[in-house]
Amino acid sequence: MRRSVSSSQRVNEREVRRAGSMAKERTFLMIKPGSIERGLVGEIIGRFEKRGFRILGLRLDELSREVAEAQYQEHRGKEFYESLVSYMTSGPTVLLVMEGEDAINRAREIAGLTNPKEAKPGSVRGDYGLDIQRNVLHAADSTASAKREITLHFKDLLVT
Ligand code: CMP
Repeated sequence: MRRSVSSSQRVNEREVRRAGSMAKERTFLMIKPGSIERGLVGEIIGRFEKRGFRILGLRLDELSREVAEAQYQEHRGKEFYESLVSYMTSGPTVLLVMEGEDAINRAREIAGLTNPKEAKPGSVRGDYGLDIQRNVLHAADSTASAKREITLHFKDLLVT
């Protein structure tokens, strides 16, 4: 017997197929020294895990000045650069590679706007950020940045 299929059913099936085949993406996150000092690591990582992100790389590490400068090379010369590098080398950071669908954009959404004063309540920075420097965590802002940052900190997890 031939079953009739409504057009809305067909659209729905297409959506399901599309969602199922959506490419997984990798992003780079870094939990900043002040957040580790405040005991926020579990809470921050949990926010991402509960939204379906999977941890591929995780390391507690004190950044050398050289690595911090490489991480933030695009900000070299800005008035906050020295202070940023000094803060990022003031204690351990947690470096993370996380995987998920549309991971780069979604991680930035979960993190919230760079300046905690502008970040929405419910976002990590909106809930825990103190000021623009002590803004809890860093999240890669583009495919190119994610690749560059993953390569810098996790050579074996290089994305193609
Ligand atoms: P992050 O996501 O780590 O990327 C670059 C960092 O520079 C940013 O978060 C802020 O912590 C910091 N930053 C950006 N703009 C300013 C600013 N105007 N003053 C101080 N720090 C800044």
